[in-house]
Amino acid sequence: MNHIASSLKADYERDGFVFPLDILSAAEAADLRADLEAGEAALAGDRKRLGMLRGYPARLLPSFDRLTRHPAMVAAAAAILGPDVLVWGSGLFIKEANSPHYVSWHQDLTYWGLDRADEVTLWVALSPATVASGCMRFVPGSHRERILPHADSFGADNLLSRGQELAVAVDEAQAVDVTLAPGQASLHHGHLFHASGPNTTGDRRIGAAIRYITPAMRARSGPATEVALATGEDRFGHFAIVPPPRSRMDAADFAAVAADIERRETILYEGAAEAGNRQS
Ligand code: NI
Repeated sequence: MNHIASSLKADYERDGFVFPLDILSAAEAADLRADLEAGEAALAGDRKRLGMLRGYPARLLPSFDRLTRHPAMVAAAAAILGPDVLVWGSGLFIKEANSPHYVSWHQDLTYWGLDRADEVTLWVALSPATVASGCMRFVPGSHRERILPHADSFGADNLLSRGQELAVAVDEAQAVDVTLAPGQASLHHGHLFHASGPNTTGDRRIGAAIRYITPAMRARSGPATEVALATGEDRFGHFAIVPPPRSRMDAADFAAVAADIERRETILYEGAAEAGNRQS
């Protein structure tokens, strides 16, 4: 492991997060955003496919698949997880201009149904992530907590699928604002306490959250869900490895994603009082 990777890992182990990481140039981030927004415009009349595009961009847009395999992304994930890394999921967290949407305090791994915590999220900014636009906030060191109780709120403006919220008091005075320029990323541990506020700016706040895991992770129950191999090998076979998108917004990929969403929702909504259709 080189010096940068070893200091990244040390910071991650101490704080539960690292930022900013320079991943894309401003121009590359703008191209990625433009590709997404062209896809959104093409699907404007199709709520179901639009939701799939925003929840699974790396399965439907070759540009986002390439982002998950970008050498700087994979190197950061491998510095934390080791040489074998899967992409468990990718999803966009979009707050429209001047919108009240927020994300309540939570720990990511609470509802994913995975058996351990060998997971890291790289969150890539595709527009400015600032306090005014509702950037994420992290509580340093909170990743050392195990999964704590959460309550489902299903709050109307909460972007989380169940409105899940930590049921313990969070010391917000300790929280760090994760400001990022387009093309920069943060990485955070699956047990880290994090949240984000509304977007009070005139631009959309767009982030792509790429969830990396080790192949040793497995679902506690339910069918094997589809993942991509980012680097190394899968010696376990706990998940179904799928190739990159066939083409841009390919009908067969939409069908495959729809089937995978059904598998994942079986796990995500286990125990939930009611089901929403927002992104996880
Ligand atoms: Ni989260």
